Amino acid sequence: MVLKAIILVGGYGTRLRPLTFSCPKPLTPFCNHPIVKHQIDALVECGVKHVILCVNYKPKALEEALKSYSEQLGIKVDFSLEDVPMGTAGPLVLAKDLLDMSDPDPFFMLNADVTSEYPFKELLAFHKNHGKEGTIFVTKVDDPSKYGVVVAKENGQIEKFVEKPQVFCGDKINAGMYIFNKTIVNRIPNKPTSIERVIFPAMAGDGELFRMVLPGFWMDIGQPKDYLIGQCLKLQSLRNTDPKQLADAQDGIIGNVMIHESAQIGKGCVIGPDVVVGPNVKLGDCVRLRRCSIFADTTIANGAMVADSMVGWACRIGQFARVQDMCVLGEDTTVPAERFMRSTRVCPHKKVKEDVYEDDKIII
Ligand code: GDD
Ligand code: MG
Repeated sequence: MVLKAIILVGGYGTRLRPLTFSCPKPLTPFCNHPIVKHQIDALVECGVKHVILCVNYKPKALEEALKSYSEQLGIKVDFSLEDVPMGTAGPLVLAKDLLDMSDPDPFFMLNADVTSEYPFKELLAFHKNHGKEGTIFVTKVDDPSKYGVVVAKENGQIEKFVEKPQVFCGDKINAGMYIFNKTIVNRIPNKPTSIERVIFPAMAGDGELFRMVLPGFWMDIGQPKDYLIGQCLKLQSLRNTDPKQLADAQDGIIGNVMIHESAQIGKGCVIGPDVVVGPNVKLGDCVRLRRCSIFADTTIANGAMVADSMVGWACRIGQFARVQDMCVLGEDTTVPAERFMRSTRVCPHKKVKEDVYEDDKIII
C-alpha cells in the first residue's frame, strides 16, 4: 500500500503573468519556496510516497525541479500528460494506472494554486471515519461566487455542491483539496469533465461526499492580489507555528517579515509588515519595503520604496524609485532612479521608461 496524491496543474498560469513567462506556476516562489514544494512537503509529512502531476504540458523546468524533490524526499513523482485539457476530473481517468486501482488506500487530490496549513493527516482520519467515497476541505469566504459552494448537514455530509453560484447559497467553499476512494474514477467518463460541475453533484446526490472544515488560513494564490493576501496569511501562520522562519524583531523590521539568509540588507532600511525577501536580494541603504514579495537576485538601490507589489527575479530598482499599488515586475525589469510607478505589469527584460500614474498599465 502506497499513499498517493494527485496535483492538478492545468493551464499556463496566465493570471500570474508576467512572472509565469519565466517559470511555470507551480514553481513560482511563495515565501521563498516553489508553491508546489509547500504542497509536496505537507503530503510527504502525512505519509504520501507517490505524487502524480496531471499536466496538459510539461515544462522542462518543472520536470527537473520535481526530479530533484523526488530524490531529496525519497518519493516517486510521475507526470500524467494530457493531449487535450481534460478538465478537473478527466485527468483521473488518464492517471488510472498510476493510481493503481487494486490498492485499497484512498488518495489525495489538490489544486495546484491553493495555500493553507495543509492538515492532511486530519483529513485522512476524518475520511476513514465516515467511510464514504470522498471528503472535501471547505473554508469560509466573504465572496463565494468565484468558488464552488458546499452545503452540508451538521455531520459533514454534503447535500449540495454548486460551482460558481450566481445566487447565494452558502459561504463555505471548496478549498481545492480532497481525499477520495479510488472508486471515484469509475464515475468519470474518458473525456474533458469538470469534477465540480459533474462529479461532485452526483456524489452528493448519492450521499457519498463529506466536507471537513479546514482549520487555519486558506487562499487561492493564482493571481497577484490574492497571492499577496495569501502571503500575509502564511506569514501570520508561521508567526504562530514556526516563528524562527521570520526575521527577529529589531529596529527596521515591522510585523511579519521573511528574509532569506543570503539577502544583503543596507543600513536604515524599514521592512514590513508582510514582506518576503528572496535569495541573493541586495537592498541598499534606507530602502522601504511594505507588503510585497521580492524574488531572488533583485537589487534595490538606496532610498527606493516597494509597496503592495511583486518584484520578479533579477530586477534592478534605482535610487529613490517608487513601485506601488499592485505592480508585478517580470524577470530582469529595470526601474530607473526616481521613477514612480503604480498598478503596472512589466514583461520580462524591460525598462520602465516613464512614470506611470494610471490604473492597470501593461508594459510589453
Ligand atoms: N491537469 C489539468 N487539466 N488541470 C487542470 C485543468 C485541466 O484541463 N483545468 C484546470 N486544472 C487545474 C488548475 O491548474 C488548478 O490547479 C485546478 O485545476 C483548479 O482550476 P482553476 O482554474 O484554478 O479553478 P478555480 O480556481 O476557478 O476553481 C477551483 O478552485 C477553487 C478553489 O480555489 C474549483 O475547484 C472551485 O470549486 C474551488 O472553490
Ligand atoms: Mg484556482
